[in-house]
Amino acid sequence: MTIENDAMTGAEARVRADDRGHVFHSWSAQGLIDPLPVAGGAGSEFWDYEGNRYLDFGSQLVNLNLGHQHPDLVEAIEKQARSLATIQPSFANDVRGELARRIVDVAGETFSKVFFTNGGADANENAVRMARLVTGKRKVLAMYRSYHGNTTTAISLTGDPRRWPNEPADGSVVHFFGPYLYRSAFHAETESEETRRALEHLEQTIVLEGASTIGAIVIETVVGTNGVLVPPPGYLAGVRELCDRYGIVYIADEVMVGFGRTGEWFAVQGHGVTPDLITFAKGVNSGYVPLGGVVISKEIAAAFDERAFPGGLTYSGHPLACAPGVATFEVFRRDGILERVKDLGERVVRPILEGWVESHPCVGEVRGTGLFWAIELVRDKETREPLVPFNAAGKDAAPMGVFAKACKDSGVWPFVHFNRTHIAPPLVITEDELRRGLKVIDEALSEVDALIA
Ligand SMILES: Cc1ncc(COP(=O)(O)O)c(C=O)c1O
Repeated sequence: MTIENDAMTGAEARVRADDRGHVFHSWSAQGLIDPLPVAGGAGSEFWDYEGNRYLDFGSQLVNLNLGHQHPDLVEAIEKQARSLATIQPSFANDVRGELARRIVDVAGETFSKVFFTNGGADANENAVRMARLVTGKRKVLAMYRSYHGNTTTAISLTGDPRRWPNEPADGSVVHFFGPYLYRSAFHAETESEETRRALEHLEQTIVLEGASTIGAIVIETVVGTNGVLVPPPGYLAGVRELCDRYGIVYIADEVMVGFGRTGEWFAVQGHGVTPDLITFAKGVNSGYVPLGGVVISKEIAAAFDERAFPGGLTYSGHPLACAPGVATFEVFRRDGILERVKDLGERVVRPILEGWVESHPCVGEVRGTGLFWAIELVRDKETREPLVPFNAAGKDAAPMGVFAKACKDSGVWPFVHFNRTHIAPPLVITEDELRRGLKVIDEALSEVDALIA
């Protein structure tokens, strides 16, 4: 059925009515939302029932690394569905084992095993569980300005307002400030000052909270939804050193940045750092079927050789999810995905965005790496006052609404969070599409310039 026929037969109205009547949506006041009925997608675009096409500049929720309807991933799912649609986790299974082996291969020789989960939150939940069991220490440190998921410990680790209504949850989490030079908590003016002071602050936090009580530190390698905060040189190496010194497990949350977003298999590899546990989800199979997991170091895996790990999931390593994961590795290798992410990020995105700091009064800072960038919108470049307040909603968030509408009206679906827009398109986006989308964002920023003039 064509898009036009769908519209004529009232398919859109039916989708909208079923949704509004019966689907309870994430993070929302149910009566205040109006979700767009989506009719389909291909590559870097999706479209609605009226035929409006959108370049997906947020890769859905930064999971759609290989784009919509990638033929290799779809075929892998179809083939797996025909051979064995499901098998419970206590059996050995070909695609589950192959995916685990391939993940360990790219993670590096420190690692030996993968515990598969249904998504990112339960990956973090189980990584913390492992760290607590191997150290015998319960407390966990995590950053302000972070998101780690929606289950009890994961939402407690989270350092953004999504945690507030869920407190108290896991009472053994303490937050600290990570590096963020543009709005430095340490009054730093250079990257090296920020690195040194952020590490001093983290060490003070460890000492004052009691190293003998802290089992793990959980850090998004590049903070995602809370700002695309790329750690300055030396910061993650310093975290590694503190973890070693104080007997703490270093958990790298790579749910958003793992599998190519920064041009590396895992973003820590760009910082020359090896954590003890790496959590992943999203990009492992572009989210075609829910899948996440924990990559486990040899040392931590060995701790469970003779002792049972007290955790499990009915769908751990589900074959329909693992098959497109294996196909993802093939596509990355064949199509040079990591190389093209680095190339497009440095050659196309960086110079265009850096130009906007000069050309747009509303652009305070741009930052990022690979195909993962943030544009921070401000009212005033001097004071750095954000375009909208922290956690703004309703009327307070209206200026960002103006920006988002301008993008959508011109065929780009933007990722908007607080006073920022993020550039996180599928890693398969063509250079023409990327330049077209950036031009739309450039024009939408001019509308914001007019608002603050
Ligand atoms: C860094 C990070 N960790 C964890 C999660 C939670 O993943 P999920 O929604 O699959 O549970 C997310 C989701 O956006 C994330 O960005």
